Amino acid sequence: MRELPEPWRVKAVEPIRLVPRDEREKRLREAGYNLFNVPSEAIFIDLLTDSGTSAMSDRQWAGMMTGDESYAGARSFFRFERTVREIFGFPHVIPTHQGRMGENLLFSTILKPGDIVTNNTHFDTTRANVEANGGVGIDLVIEEGLQPEVEHPFKGNMDLAALDRTLSANRGRVRLGMITLTNNSAGGQPVSLANVRSAAEIYKKHGVPFWIDACRFAENAWFIKQREVGQAGRTVAEIVRDVFAHADGCIMSAKKDGLANIGGFVALRSRELFEQLKNRLVIIEGFPTYGGLAGRDLEAVAQGLEEVLDESYLAFRVEQVRRFGQELIDAGIPIVRPVGGHAVYVDAHAFLPQIPPLEFPGQSLTVELYREGAVRAVEIGSLMFAQTDPGTGEEKPAPVELVRLAVPRRVYTNSHLRYVAEVLRTICDRKSDLRGYRIVKQAQYLRHFTAELAPL
Ligand code: F0G
Repeated sequence: MRELPEPWRVKAVEPIRLVPRDEREKRLREAGYNLFNVPSEAIFIDLLTDSGTSAMSDRQWAGMMTGDESYAGARSFFRFERTVREIFGFPHVIPTHQGRMGENLLFSTILKPGDIVTNNTHFDTTRANVEANGGVGIDLVIEEGLQPEVEHPFKGNMDLAALDRTLSANRGRVRLGMITLTNNSAGGQPVSLANVRSAAEIYKKHGVPFWIDACRFAENAWFIKQREVGQAGRTVAEIVRDVFAHADGCIMSAKKDGLANIGGFVALRSRELFEQLKNRLVIIEGFPTYGGLAGRDLEAVAQGLEEVLDESYLAFRVEQVRRFGQELIDAGIPIVRPVGGHAVYVDAHAFLPQIPPLEFPGQSLTVELYREGAVRAVEIGSLMFAQTDPGTGEEKPAPVELVRLAVPRRVYTNSHLRYVAEVLRTICDRKSDLRGYRIVKQAQYLRHFTAELAPL
């Protein structure tokens, strides 16, 4: 098939610079071999995240000028609220400055110590917010979701039998049931409409409220349209309404499928919980009609939510990421298959079998991507997710060792991604020389953000 061209043209440009190799080496040393510590001016192609990195459209920028900055009852809030209600179907909408504030707000309001939250796979901030509020996060993704090389159209699906068992075995303790669309931590993999429906029924049977982590809801709906029997003839907007009709509420980071650089929201059905959340919001975030955002941000998110449902945008977006992944497959690089919606995930354990999990093969590849081509990616493996046994103090590796190459929305062209594929091919030729790392310094929560490492 001929390459799908970008369904937008460039109206403003931002120069990027490839710094010389000796400077890259110096930057790595100064950063403690952690790419979160490298200033972005020294990065050429930044695939660290698809979050908050989207290019805004001319209409979103226009909205930035027309934003209403009133403290209370701003016009921009009502547009935001109307848009969220129309797209997701929830009556109550609370803006937040980003996704994890929604997590903090919700969990700090409803969780008691020892309460359980189930999910296909908790994203790291979601798990951290559950745990910081005394809760326990349980991941119940289907088995295929943890096997990088196994093809499955909906690898983000919940294991429904395991869900039913977990809810029966922990009666009264599961405070909230969730599903993350798409399942970021296990490869940006979609969840089918049928799976959402069945999970919702199981949650209902056990009297557990069901919430969706909606970060990449449009990409998930696009996969449903492409892959699920009987869904091809519906619009993405219809599929989204159908998915969310099964849930009691959602938490959203608008930094992903909101196509905005900042923003988020909590949306829900329960009037009572809405009142509780609003009261707490005023203490920790802001007044309920701006929730930590400026009026112009509310405009940008509302506009972005409308644009993300454009099917020519989604067709290009998902195809661009798929094609990038296919180039790596063709070069013999092991990646999570099929390619997810927002990123290509290299299976670092399979790519660098000589490096044991607790010597961070994913981090080794991440460092090498910068050294070779000033490309920034992120490790999603034992540096991010290893767990320490409270009894023995021993570290247990993460279930998978991945490197995520996240593709920002509307930012890089296909030729930028071909450059990254070329960098990976070069690394592939000398991959047996790569070595592991040890941690020199780390924080208690979310250590991957600030840890410093040293090569072994
Ligand atoms: N849930 C999921 C599935 C996410 O991917 C993220 C963020 C969040 C919640 C939290 O949202 O950043 O707005 O506070 N993911 C980013 C990433 C950071 O790189 O995948 P946030």
